[in-house]
Amino acid sequence: MILKNAKLYGQDGRWDIHIEVGTIQTIKPAADTGQSSNNNDVIDLNGKIVLPPYVEPHIHLDYVLTAGTPRWSQSGSVFEGIEIWSERKQLINESKQDIKDRALKAIKMQLQHGIQHVRTHVDVGDPELKGLKALLEVKEEIKPWLDLQIVAFPQEGLYTKPDAEELLVKALEMGADVVGGIPHYELTREDGVRSVIRALELANKYDKLVDIHCDEIDDDQSRYLEVLAGEALKLGMGDRVTASHTTAMASYSNAYTYKLFQTLKKAGIHFVALPKANLHLQGRFDSHPVRRGLTRVKEMLAEGINVSFGLDSIMDPWYPLGNGDLMSVVDVGLHACHMTDFNHIVKALDLITTNGAKALGLKGEYGVKEGNQANLIVIDADDEYEAIRTQAPVLYSIRNGEVIVETKPVETTMNVSIF
Ligand code: FE2
Repeated sequence: MILKNAKLYGQDGRWDIHIEVGTIQTIKPAADTGQSSNNNDVIDLNGKIVLPPYVEPHIHLDYVLTAGTPRWSQSGSVFEGIEIWSERKQLINESKQDIKDRALKAIKMQLQHGIQHVRTHVDVGDPELKGLKALLEVKEEIKPWLDLQIVAFPQEGLYTKPDAEELLVKALEMGADVVGGIPHYELTREDGVRSVIRALELANKYDKLVDIHCDEIDDDQSRYLEVLAGEALKLGMGDRVTASHTTAMASYSNAYTYKLFQTLKKAGIHFVALPKANLHLQGRFDSHPVRRGLTRVKEMLAEGINVSFGLDSIMDPWYPLGNGDLMSVVDVGLHACHMTDFNHIVKALDLITTNGAKALGLKGEYGVKEGNQANLIVIDADDEYEAIRTQAPVLYSIRNGEVIVETKPVETTMNVSIF
């Protein structure tokens, strides 16, 4: 297959990408052969942008499409979401297949939106570990089309119930890829600190990555991030560690944040911000002015700290909307983080591609370059600025050299004479 006249994301010029046996063989300046249009193996992209597949670094696939059962959230807060999920587990006895069916529906949405790499958290508080078993099966079944990384996530805390730690260990032994945590939900500050340290210990013991739901609260005293980053720094494992949400950072004083940033830079940990979910979830205990509830994305990027964007939810007790589309997350995130200046706009797709890939630990194998697997997407825009302004849809998603998703651009007819 040849993708002709491609614009490569972040580069000028037009390029021809030659793909064979699932691999990108060559990427060369576009040749004006003028005779390729009737060849089925040639797609003329006419200058549309080619980039590596989108990366969803933070979703809860075991929760998707459950909003409203057994009840809708009234407050919209993180804590009511946790209460509803806990009630649901007791009232509704889903089979492993039910969970798989919901997860696959969400993955279909993700694939349609150009995603091929996903990190999902899975609640491992259930003694049967049904969600984990379901997602481990989904991971294998979906492998030809999408890479799935699984976080063993103790949703209701590691030290709030006697068996939680044992279940987390069991989940890691069963094949979860990443150790999770939720320190701000533990009963005491000390338990929160202990849960972070334990997650790092387990990651070392079982050779896993770490991704902590960290300080997802509007409390300027919630400071588990400094524990996570400080311990990761001391252990020299920052590159294997991700801090998700960190919304409390928006409420920290600038003086404390300055000091914290020095640790973050030295530790080299990754961040995932969830703009749609946290605009919805945070600020629920504020009277006006209501905080935006997002971590300091712009400031961290300016300091060279790796930040990516994720969706978090698709219709679950925490967030009632969502369709798997990361472009809309970028749109909302740029607005919410005051990043609607030219320089941030033209680099915004980093937030859902390379930055997420770094958090997931994808190295040289990720990216549109010669010798790599032919995994890439084509979006309906001629330049980076227009891609963001128009929230350009994905025209093609290509995996191992096969077109796995193809979308025809919408056609609108205007019957207005002035145009
Ligand atoms: Fe989450």
